[in-house]
Amino acid sequence: MAVWEKTNFVTDPLWGDNGKGKVIDLMAQRADMVIRINGGPNAGHTVRNEKGEFALHLIPSGIFNPEAVCALAGTVVVNPILLTEEIKNLRKSDIEINGNNLLISRDAHLIMPWHRTRDNLRETSRGNEKIGTTGQGIGPTYSDRSLREGLRVRDLLSPDFVEKFNKEMSYQEKLAGIMSDNTKTVYYNREKILNDLYEAREMIAPMITDVLPVIWNYHSRRKNILGEAGQGMLLDLDLGCYPGVTSSHPGIAGFNLATGIPPKDVARVIGVTKAYTTRVGEGPLPTELCDEIGEKIRKIGHEFGATTGRPRRCGWLDIPALRYGSRVGGIDTLALTKIDIFDTFSEIKICIGYEVDEVKYVTPPEASNELLAKAKPILTSLPGWEKDTSSCKTFNDLPKNAQRFVMSVQEWAGKRIELVSVGSDRQASIYT
Ligand code: IMP
Repeated sequence: MAVWEKTNFVTDPLWGDNGKGKVIDLMAQRADMVIRINGGPNAGHTVRNEKGEFALHLIPSGIFNPEAVCALAGTVVVNPILLTEEIKNLRKSDIEINGNNLLISRDAHLIMPWHRTRDNLRETSRGNEKIGTTGQGIGPTYSDRSLREGLRVRDLLSPDFVEKFNKEMSYQEKLAGIMSDNTKTVYYNREKILNDLYEAREMIAPMITDVLPVIWNYHSRRKNILGEAGQGMLLDLDLGCYPGVTSSHPGIAGFNLATGIPPKDVARVIGVTKAYTTRVGEGPLPTELCDEIGEKIRKIGHEFGATTGRPRRCGWLDIPALRYGSRVGGIDTLALTKIDIFDTFSEIKICIGYEVDEVKYVTPPEASNELLAKAKPILTSLPGWEKDTSSCKTFNDLPKNAQRFVMSVQEWAGKRIELVSVGSDRQASIYT
C-alpha cells in the first residue's frame, strides 16, 4: 500500500476535451480537496449532475461537493473578471462559493486585457502558421511569468496596487504598439479596467491565500486530495507537439509544480480519453476523419469547444498518441468516456500504430509536429454494437461488442480502464 494512497490526479493523455470535468465531478464526491493545477480559462470542463449542467473554466470541477475545499494553484493563470463571472453563475444555481471552499493562490499570475490583445496580435502575425489559441491570453501571461514580470493575484491586495498597475499598463501599451509595427498606438481604458478589477477584488479577496501550506496540511493528514489538470499531455509545453501546444504542464510534473507534492506520493494518475480522438486548433491529427464519419462523430458527440465554440476535429481513437501521452504524463489507469457516441455505428476503427517513413511505431518516440504530420495510421476494425448503452450500469450490462471494444482499447493502450462513461450525467459511469 502506498504511503499517500489518498492523493490522486486526473489528467488527459491527448489533446484535451476528453471529459476530465465529468470524471473529477464524480471522484470529487469522495475528495477533501480538489486542486486545479495548470492553465486558465482556455479550459472548458463540462459537468452535468443533479444541480444542472455547467461549463467550468477556472473553478475546479470539485466545487459541487460542499464538503470539499477547491483550490487554484499558483501555476494557474487567473482572469479575475472571468473568475467572478463564473462564481456569479454558479451562485445563481445555488452553489455556495466562499473563502472556505474556494482558495486562490496569491502566486497565480493575472490575465489582463493586454494579454488577450497580445495573444491575438501574435496569432494574426503568424498567418498560416498560427497555433489556433483560444485567444484567452494564456501564452502572453505565462511568458510574462517566465520573464518575471506582470501582475499576480497578491498584487490585487497590495497597498501600492495602483502604482504597480499604472507601471504595468504603460509598459504593455508600448509593447502592443511595437507588436503592431508601430502602425497604431494601443491605449487601454484605465478607468474601466481598474473598476472591473476593484469589483473582482471585492468578491475574491476572502478567497486569496497561501495555498501551499493548506495543501501540505491536507497532505500530511492523509486527506483525500484530487488534482485536476487542464488540457492534455499532447498540449504540454515541453512534452507535447510543440509549437501547437499550450504554455503549461498538464501531467504529473505539472501536479508536482502546482502542489509541492512529489510524484511518488501520488497513488494513481488517471488519464481520461474519449472512445475517439479530437483536437482543436492547428497542427496534425493523424487519425482525423475529414468525411461524413468525422461529421457524424462531431454531431452526435457535440464536439464544439466549451470555451471558443470552435468545431473540434474528430478522428478514430489514436492509441500511439495515447501511449505516448500516458508515458510522459505518468498515467497509471484510464477512464474511457463517450463510448455511447458509437451506439449507432456498425463499424468502429482504432488506430493501433503509426507508419512513419516506413518505420512502424506502437509508441512514437516523440510527439513532434514533424512526426505526427508524416504518421500514417494503422487501423484495426471492430464491429459496432448498434444498441443504446446509456442505461447500462455495469460492465456486464454493456452489449458484447461494446465490452469487446473496451477490452481492445485496454489491451492496445496497455493500461487498465477503470471507468467507462456512457453519458454526460454523473450517474452514467461504469466502474470496471
Ligand atoms: P492556448 O492555450 O489558448 O494558448 O492555445 C494553445 C493550443 O492549445 C491551441 O491549439 C488550443 O486550441 C489548445 N487548447 C488550449 N486549451 C485547450 C483545452 O482546454 N482543450 C483543448 N485544446 C486546448
